[in-house]
Amino acid sequence: MKKIVIALDGYSSCGKSTTAKLVAAALGYAYIDTGAMYRAVTLYFLEHHVSLTNPKEIREALNNIEIEFHYNPKTNRNEVFLNGLNVEDEIRKMYISNQVSEVSVVVEVRRAMVAQQQKMGRKRGVVMDGRDIGTAVFPDAEVKIFMTADVDTRAKRRQVELLEKKQLVNLDEIRENLLKRDLIDSTRAESPLRRAEDAALLDTSHMTIDEQVDFVLERVTSALIKNEEKAVKQD
Ligand code: DC
Repeated sequence: MKKIVIALDGYSSCGKSTTAKLVAAALGYAYIDTGAMYRAVTLYFLEHHVSLTNPKEIREALNNIEIEFHYNPKTNRNEVFLNGLNVEDEIRKMYISNQVSEVSVVVEVRRAMVAQQQKMGRKRGVVMDGRDIGTAVFPDAEVKIFMTADVDTRAKRRQVELLEKKQLVNLDEIRENLLKRDLIDSTRAESPLRRAEDAALLDTSHMTIDEQVDFVLERVTSALIKNEEKAVKQD
């Protein structure tokens, strides 16, 4: 069966990565967390004091960055490596969350990440989550979902996630960070966060994870049937 691309875009912390991971596992597809890539770039920029207003410094830094995903059977997840080092835990910390949207605005950063993501998905058979997958990275994705949820629900979910990683963060701080990121992500000039015209809207405020996964898988099934019908017609 011909493989497809599934794009999950939307606001911060509305369940994109949890849903994407489960959908990928159900289909035997690769899961690519594009937010982790922007977070890894942010970590590198902070560690190397890269100025966001100096294009030459930014270009040089990007040339020195290699981002890879490796599956870890112990944690049962794809973990992100920056220049050979596992940075999966470091990039989820609040100091990265507080800077990542500013780094993601930088045109050079976006172009480099988008090119890399397109390469990762060129054979299709991927579930990618992010902000611009259905609009800029794979505008031809067979399934596009735009996810949202009310901000208080998102903040509470994020707080639990951080607690599981032994990080105790105040709910107001999380809420502010989410709202700030949503604003920067959706108002930037280059590939802003917006719902693609052909993306299905998924509001997860009152949904369980299973319901979210089912919502996506239903659309995947329809897309795969459509693909098969097209292939039969072409034969
Ligand atoms: O999904 P996340 O919260 O880990 O993403 C972190 C930040 O990365 C998010 O606030 C904006 C940026 N991002 C982006 O600009 N484009 C993407 N495709 C994915 C993430």
